[in-house]
Amino acid sequence: MKVMQTDCLVIGGGFAGSAYALYAARAGLKVALLSLGGPLEANSDWAQGGIIYDTSPDPELLSRDILEASDGTANPAAVRQLVTEGPVAVRELLLDELDVEFDREEDGQLQLTREGGHSARRIIHARDRTGHAILSAVANRVASTAGIQRHTGAVAIDLLTLSHNNENPEDRYAPLTCFGAYALLEGSSEPVAIVAKKTVLACGGLGQIFQHSTNHPGIVGHGVAMAYRVGARLIDLEYVQFHPTVFYGKNAPRFLITEALRGEGAVLVNVDGKPFMDKVHQRGSLAPRDIVSRAIHDEMATSGEPCVYLDLTGLDRTRLPDRFPTVYQSCLNHGVDITREPIPVVPAAHYSCGGVHTDLEGRSNIRHLGAIGETACTGLHGANRLASTSLLECLTGAKFTARADARDIDSMDFRLPGPRAWQSPPEEADPTLVYQDLNLVQQTMWNYAGIVRSPRRLTRARRILLELREEIQSFYRDCRVTRELVELRNAVQTALLVVHAASLNPHSKGAHYIIDE
Ligand code: SIN
Repeated sequence: MKVMQTDCLVIGGGFAGSAYALYAARAGLKVALLSLGGPLEANSDWAQGGIIYDTSPDPELLSRDILEASDGTANPAAVRQLVTEGPVAVRELLLDELDVEFDREEDGQLQLTREGGHSARRIIHARDRTGHAILSAVANRVASTAGIQRHTGAVAIDLLTLSHNNENPEDRYAPLTCFGAYALLEGSSEPVAIVAKKTVLACGGLGQIFQHSTNHPGIVGHGVAMAYRVGARLIDLEYVQFHPTVFYGKNAPRFLITEALRGEGAVLVNVDGKPFMDKVHQRGSLAPRDIVSRAIHDEMATSGEPCVYLDLTGLDRTRLPDRFPTVYQSCLNHGVDITREPIPVVPAAHYSCGGVHTDLEGRSNIRHLGAIGETACTGLHGANRLASTSLLECLTGAKFTARADARDIDSMDFRLPGPRAWQSPPEEADPTLVYQDLNLVQQTMWNYAGIVRSPRRLTRARRILLELREEIQSFYRDCRVTRELVELRNAVQTALLVVHAASLNPHSKGAHYIIDE
């Protein structure tokens, strides 16, 4: 087995992972950066709305909005870090250094929009392609930075720990310590071991364990599942946020319809064209996401219709193609001209508020294993995330974690062991079974552990998933490892973890809504 060695192994090449790589390399560390697809194939690239840039004299207002969206459950220390350090990081890296092309007013000032749960306009954006504008700028800088070795098309299989993957018997009794990961690199069917002083999980969320999701294909909680298998502390996994507005068409794929449209005046209406959010919350269509998603769910259940609509009559429709080109073109491709008609929408799984528990410098409970971005949970979002905090969290998390790692690695007395060799079984996995099993995970999660949960539904989900996990484990033992198999194994594990967390929490709060049926 081939063994590679580096200072930091970053698993995930979205905004969090790429920004971390940049900060760490600049601090003198050697970085291996693995991404599932190309440099832009990540959830961050699909982020439409924007990133908070709050330079108002009273940051308390933003703190209050984050806490209110979280239903009072967010971690105040994490909120404080984001609110005070976020604007500094945006200015330094995105504005001053990379000069990301955010939209500006005629006088050159940054244009500000708002989204659900925000009491003020404080979100900067690059039309409705904010994530793409940011990630391309960062990925370009990564490509020209010495010290970063990028591996595209790479999937991490399992984390290496002293107790699990090392021949030295004494290490079995040492504190849990991570020293890298096994991975499948592009073009090879034989796993390699990447041995590292620090391993950082930046694998994004878990939206694709649900049948309907805004996430990139393959985003099934890789970080959470790998961390779980080596004993990391996971937290808040029941809080899966559903985005209220995803395009609905009978034979069309689901894609995000940015909340910024509602920030600019779009209103949710039912099939009769009647607004229904004003009776639910004082902010109407701009209420926090959990509340809007549930209201849509209820409206659909009452009307028996497969969707509700986003009415755009309050906006200057002639400006829509220019301000929201992604939404405009994607809807047009599926027969809806948003300059003339409302958009049919439904909710879909969007963001995991929980994840691998870390401190504010990305450290997990396992030595030398960190997590950042959506994979991590500092408690910033509590039970429900405020819109446009995620890109900002990626940035501040990356900066603070890389800075701490540069310090920690410098003073680290750590002997990197040789890992156990990987044993490859000869059999090939049957792709039809792999595909069907993933479908079953996704349907089970959508139907029994989605927007509205109940103890009975969760019990049903658990039973199905436990049986499925048995099947998949035996597959995994007997077959040659492939990306699809890794994905399936992690999907079923993550799904079980979400169901388990949801079953243990009988209290409806934020994105976790449980009825007694
Ligand atoms: C959106 O544009 O509605 C998504 C932004 C986010 O999830 O913060």
